[in-house]
Amino acid sequence: MQNSDSAERYTTTAIALHWLIAGLVLGMIAFGWWMQEIPKNPVGPRVNAFNLHKSIGLTVLCLMLVRTLWRATHPPPPLPPMPAWQARAARTVHLLLYVCLFVQPLTGYLGSAYSGYPVRFFGFVLPAWAPKVDGVKDAMSVAHLVNSWILVTALVLHVGATLKHALIDRDRIFHRIWPWARVAHDQGVEARTG
Ligand code: HEM
Ligand code: HEM
Repeated sequence: MQNSDSAERYTTTAIALHWLIAGLVLGMIAFGWWMQEIPKNPVGPRVNAFNLHKSIGLTVLCLMLVRTLWRATHPPPPLPPMPAWQARAARTVHLLLYVCLFVQPLTGYLGSAYSGYPVRFFGFVLPAWAPKVDGVKDAMSVAHLVNSWILVTALVLHVGATLKHALIDRDRIFHRIWPWARVAHDQGVEARTG
């Protein structure tokens, strides 16, 4: 049976996937910019950094597939009462984040696949099914760059909205996804009733 606490929180799996993907993606955005500053000579460090970026990016893609399947079979808890525009904005930004989190690794992968170099996943060479086509590679590079800015904008709105709920409204939105909130909540209940 669901108690009121679990009814108002995301599932443990959804919470774990949220924070795992959040950490990886924030790191990947910084890493994506930084790795391009590595000198082209000697080639080793730059190639290693690019390969690591690609491997972690493909890992995010796999995690997003799992997350989307989980989300489709485990609907999130209903939002607490709030103005209709806020609920709409939250849903729109969440959807935008989901789309960006697929577009980012997919454009990265397709750009790399059409670059003529093999794509490696943590050292394992993936099947090279695409020919070298500079036009497609360049288009995917632009899409990867543009989408990274759309993602960053969505994240600023997302984290900004969370901070507003936590610090100004002081409601329980953050509690819905924070792993240790249940303990804090239960202890609070115990302190009040005990
Ligand atoms: C670093 C600070 C972050 C905070 C404080 C935060 C906070 C939150 C909160 C409170 C929710 C639940 C909203 C609700 O109750 O409906 C949420 C959901 C979500 N967050 Fe974050 N988040 C952060 C980072 C990120 C990052 C980096 C990403 C993307 C990589 C992300 C993607 C999402 C998505 C897609 C949802 C919707 C989940 C769903 O309904 O399936 N978050 N986040
Ligand atoms: C969630 C996953 C990913 C994030 C957040 C991410 C983020 C970024 C960012 C912020 C940049 C620098 C801006 C730019 O020039 O585009 C970048 C560059 C790059 N990324 Fe990713 N990336 C991800 C996945 C991937 C994947 C899966 C691949 C390839 C398999 C890839 C390949 C590249 C390459 C080759 C560059 C250098 C610039 C270019 O040639 O387009 N990325 N990435």
